[in-house]
Amino acid sequence: MVGHAFMGRAHANAFRQVGRFFDLPFEVTPRVVVGRDPDRAEAARRQLGFLESSVDLAAVLERDDVSIVDVATPNDSHAEIAIAALKAGKHVLCEKPLALNLAQAKRMAALAKKAKMQVGLWHNYRRCPAASLAQQMIKRGEIGKVRQVRAVYLQDWLSDAKALGSWRTKQKVCGSGAHGDLNAHLIDMTHFLTGLRFAEVSGMEQTFVKRRRDADGKSRSVDVDDALAFLARFEGGAIGTFEATRMAPGRKNYNQIEVNGTEGSIRWNLERMNELELFRFDAPRDGQGFRRIMCMDEPHPYAANWWPDGHILGYEHTFVNTLADFLRSLRGRKVFSPNFDDGLRVQAVLDAALKSAKTRRWVKVSS
Ligand SMILES: NC(=O)c1ccc[n+]([C@@H]2O[C@H](COP(=O)([O-])OP(=O)(O)OC[C@H]3O[C@@H](n4cnc5c(N)ncnc54)[C@H](O)[C@@H]3O)[C@@H](O)[C@H]2O)c1
Repeated sequence: MVGHAFMGRAHANAFRQVGRFFDLPFEVTPRVVVGRDPDRAEAARRQLGFLESSVDLAAVLERDDVSIVDVATPNDSHAEIAIAALKAGKHVLCEKPLALNLAQAKRMAALAKKAKMQVGLWHNYRRCPAASLAQQMIKRGEIGKVRQVRAVYLQDWLSDAKALGSWRTKQKVCGSGAHGDLNAHLIDMTHFLTGLRFAEVSGMEQTFVKRRRDADGKSRSVDVDDALAFLARFEGGAIGTFEATRMAPGRKNYNQIEVNGTEGSIRWNLERMNELELFRFDAPRDGQGFRRIMCMDEPHPYAANWWPDGHILGYEHTFVNTLADFLRSLRGRKVFSPNFDDGLRVQAVLDAALKSAKTRRWVKVSS
């Protein structure tokens, strides 16, 4: 595992938990954690439960006892690390967004195909039981033909103009701000839930605080969006609206998607991640309304791997579920999604919306 902070902790927890809750074709050993500073990497090894720490990724990639490389670093290093790992014959799990931009994402997806190794992206929200159930319901026609998608991902941690800058406010490292960070999830979730393909987008962005002090005390410019919203037209006539911001006071991790079809609607929100709201026209008119489904009963996706009915899951379980599916896909090399092709599709939408926001024109999404 390369990188050992926020996502490193989430992934490491998954590596340690997965075998306790899922029957897997392989036993997972968290072997080497790789960082840039030997002391911090060693501290991470101790706390996160790896056997070794290292600051020499190239040497780790040469080892025969490492078969999966997990990329848990900021966006500007995903391509370099994933490409090196694929070239070394490793399977790769990579954080989102896949890359800094479309050109990088294309190279990564092409190499993944050529290398014939298994690749996956940590779009973990797909694997909330309720989100997985929503996908199954939409696929079996419970809300009819999809007409509209309405998705928002709202946070507030940059609302304070004195909040520190970081790699997340530097275009060179992150590619874009709230957009790549949060809209990436919404776009992937839309692909997952509806199977719709984006045709064209029209975006608008704003940076409210143009300079921030970094942790080293120096003031630097913020060259990414604090908020980016876009309209979308999908192939086949459906439409959608998307909004990502880190400046919505009171909204902590408000990741919500609503899908409207010809026969009904479905809504999921991460802040109530175990619930799904479903509306269908088929009840008598005076009894119609949204139903709230608690998605932690035995027939629900992933639920049987965890606890008895109604014993809810949290954020960290989404990573364990993702990892379990990835490991299972290794036997017989079954298709795992989201993979780098899925990441490439997300990147195409991200790039188009960003370009649209900058040029103030509708932009076609590259196919
Ligand atoms: N799936 C999700 O829900 C989710 C949530 C948060 C972040 N992310 C993504 O995860 C990735 C990491 O984000 P984070 O929040 O963990 O960031 P973070 O700043 O908390 O951690 C980044 C880690 O990478 C290390 N690092 C940086 N550059 C490196 C390099 N070149 N080589 C080795 N180590 C390096 C840092 O020292 C740190 O340990 C980002 O791509 C981000 O978009 C995904």
